[in-house]
Amino acid sequence: MKATTWAAAAAPDFHDGVNKGVAPVTYGTGDRPPRGNYAKARADYTCEQDWAQYSEADHQTYRRLVERQLQQLPGRACDEFMAAVRHLGRPDRIPRFDDISERLMKATGWQVVGVPGLIPEEAFFALLAARRFPVTDWIRRPEEFDYVVEPDVFHDLFGHMPLLFDPVFADYMQAYGAGGLKASRLDACELLARLYWYTVEFGLIATPQGLRAYGAGILSSGSELPYSVSSPEPSRVGFDLKRLMRSRYRIDTFQATYFVIDSFQQLFDATAPDFTPVYAEVRERIAREGEIEGGAVLPGERRFKA
Ligand code: PHE
Ligand code: CO
Repeated sequence: MKATTWAAAAAPDFHDGVNKGVAPVTYGTGDRPPRGNYAKARADYTCEQDWAQYSEADHQTYRRLVERQLQQLPGRACDEFMAAVRHLGRPDRIPRFDDISERLMKATGWQVVGVPGLIPEEAFFALLAARRFPVTDWIRRPEEFDYVVEPDVFHDLFGHMPLLFDPVFADYMQAYGAGGLKASRLDACELLARLYWYTVEFGLIATPQGLRAYGAGILSSGSELPYSVSSPEPSRVGFDLKRLMRSRYRIDTFQATYFVIDSFQQLFDATAPDFTPVYAEVRERIAREGEIEGGAVLPGERRFKA
């Protein structure tokens, strides 16, 4: 398989700690082949989970990751995530995707489906548009406990599954998939990938109790979760679609900027309109003024304090 087609929208990275010397995958390119077994994938890139092939060590790795992360959640994860994380079931076994799908289907009509790893963006969008969330079937090696360069089953399930139980967020994810298929035709995937990055992977939400995380990349990271909600270092700015689409992001270390929403309904409503004119306007603005670097705060911008 050629190593040039997976992109940030299909390759939500999740970092725990800083880059440990592995070349980061940049948008649309990459010379590191994905590590799963793509020979077993179907045409839509899904594959059987083959639960029996997980070793006892694999389940142990999963259990340690879940235990560490559960401890981190209170006061940092949003309520919707807290309410649904129990649907992962027992923490000492890698869940069976079919069990999760059964629960999800009843709640919001979503399913989780196995994939060998990162998949091309069009295949990724098509799955989301069909309310099927692709979950990598392999788990990181013990020596990758704190940092793994591609999403594994822990990131994909622990990070992403809980919010698929939220009806509004579930609809947002499907709309994103449909929007992705359109963005492919408009050659706008790079702009749309930023939306995925800054919401689905690294989004924060303002609540009466304070800032909380809803992004899967933060919620599955032992170190970025506390950093994102409590550190004085990063910029936290109010969600603004066009501003966000002009904003570069980092894939090899903690984010320098987080975007903060007030509610999932706000996110859904802000992204419901046709993006065709949005892409045109954002492109024009980038051509005139350039992209916005991580950590930047623009004049008059709504800021959130940790
Ligand atoms: N409204 C977007 C479009 O027209 C679709 C979309 C919805 C994209 C939600 C992302 C998230 O392209
Ligand atoms: Co992800």
